[in-house]
Amino acid sequence: MSCLNGTDCRETAKRRAALAVLALMLAIFLLLSAWSFLPSRGQAVPDEIQYGGAGAVEGKRVFQAYNCMGCHTIVGNGAYLGPDLTRIHADAGAAWLAAFLPSAGGWPTPAAVRVQLQNPAAREDAGTADLTAYLQRYPGAAERLDRRGGQHTLMPNLPLNAREVTALIAFLKYTATLHTEGWPPKPREDRRMPNGLAAGASSPGSGAAGPAVAVIATAAAPATADAQAQDPVARGRQLVSDLGCVACHATDQKRTVGPGWGGVAGHAVELADGTTVTADEAYLVRSIRQPDAQIVAGYPSHVMPSYDALIDEADMKAIVAYLSSL
Ligand code: HEC
Ligand code: HEC
Repeated sequence: MSCLNGTDCRETAKRRAALAVLALMLAIFLLLSAWSFLPSRGQAVPDEIQYGGAGAVEGKRVFQAYNCMGCHTIVGNGAYLGPDLTRIHADAGAAWLAAFLPSAGGWPTPAAVRVQLQNPAAREDAGTADLTAYLQRYPGAAERLDRRGGQHTLMPNLPLNAREVTALIAFLKYTATLHTEGWPPKPREDRRMPNGLAAGASSPGSGAAGPAVAVIATAAAPATADAQAQDPVARGRQLVSDLGCVACHATDQKRTVGPGWGGVAGHAVELADGTTVTADEAYLVRSIRQPDAQIVAGYPSHVMPSYDALIDEADMKAIVAYLSSL
């Protein structure tokens, strides 16, 4: 072709080869770019993640409003004072979170999680209302109950209301469904997480679930049997500890999440509607069976869960006897 004009034929061929290689590179580049977007198809979208009628976006606002990130890392961002929260919903489940967040003074007990499983949102989210099945599905919850249940936590007591807790769970559900390429990585076996739990033990399939579930399933029976032999006040003290009440109530007059119990029984209580009632036995029972029927002035409603289904007549008598002794 152009070789006729005396140009170097070899140079033309080289140019063509270079262009062909360039075109091939471009094709590969475009193909790989398209390929890199494939995994994000089917990725969780915050607008679509709901929990108990609250959305993940609302939950993120609550997360920011309380500056949870000032202490916790989430999806690779934040601080290291508290544990990474990215996968907490997948590890411990909604019922455990619902028990932990509003009563951050103490780590939830099995009974506190059982109470939360009565909530339709938590039940639907976990696919079960049964504590044993729940703990099998969420070994992280089993491990937390087993190792920390009822103990004091370093997490500050935040004044979260029920709606904020629900929204936070929706947000944590969203981050747990995100495809993060395995982030956060599993901590080394010989390391402990900031929450004192064994590293890696909260991941499904690690073998930790079996014993933890078994311990919790059997722990309740002997404790109650022991307490039954004691007097009602001692039995009541055992019950409020087993039921996780003390995560929210002090036994003196100190205000924590709920009012302190000290000196309440038999005395006047000011209610949110401006009326005053005497804290007789009927009032105490109602406060525990239907916490939202009468709200103590200065405290939020919908924070204390209803214990109606969990406490029979005899146990209720013991609890009231114990409260009256304070
Ligand atoms: C001042 C620091 C601080 C702030 C603010 C804070 N946390 Fe925490 N949080 C902690 C610490 C510390 C722990 C570990 C507690 C322990 O080990 O006793 C913790 C534990 C937790 C846990 C349990 C984690 C696990 O793996 O068991 C959850 C869930 C949690 N926090 C959620 C939140 C949310 C949601 C917010 C915001 C509404 C928040 N935290 C704000 C310090 C904080
Ligand atoms: C998640 C936190 C939380 C838990 C757990 C909890 N409570 Fe409460 N409790 C509150 C709050 C907040 C109030 C005040 C608002 C109201 O009246 O419902 C309250 C109010 C009360 C009152 C009325 C107190 C008064 O001064 O008039 C009694 C009695 C009571 N709770 C007993 C219990 C018992 C017993 C348990 C366990 C079986 C328990 N609570 C578990 C948060 C909690």
